[in-house]
Amino acid sequence: MARPSIFVLNGPNLGLLGLREPAVYGTRTLADIERDCRILGDELSFDIAFYQHEAEHELIAVAHRARTQATGIVINPAALSYHGYGLLDALKMCDCPIVEVHISNVHRREEAWRAHSLFTPAVTGMLTGLGTDGYLLAIRHVAMLAAARASAAIEPIP
Ligand code: DQA
Repeated sequence: MARPSIFVLNGPNLGLLGLREPAVYGTRTLADIERDCRILGDELSFDIAFYQHEAEHELIAVAHRARTQATGIVINPAALSYHGYGLLDALKMCDCPIVEVHISNVHRREEAWRAHSLFTPAVTGMLTGLGTDGYLLAIRHVAMLAAARASAAIEPIP
């Protein structure tokens, strides 16, 4: 039987993690994060569908697939957090839990605009400032919600 999928979406510039402002984002690369997500997915029996795109329309296409295929979505919209209305609308069509992740603590950043993500009011919850662990915690949460949903679905009718 196919395993349920958790889609992990990454926005612009996250492909350069490791090189990009290491004092803010750390030295781990996106490939390191993807590997850790896949290891955790295997442990929890979920497929991890992992994406990074610079362009919003590419992520919108992924979100359209997630609408019918994903059990949960983990998304770091990166700079699309501040102007990605098309991606936001695409995610609003997804019924599954959605966890927004930011590696840095957007509330502690020098630029006040970073704290105002368009996505936060539309998602299940948001993790910010937990470094790359945020991705793993988000996957664990989505997996717990899926397990709770599945066991509610097989509850015997009294
Ligand atoms: C980020 C924070 C955003 O403000 C920024 O535009 C990013 C990365 C983070 O993971 O901390 O690209 O989403």
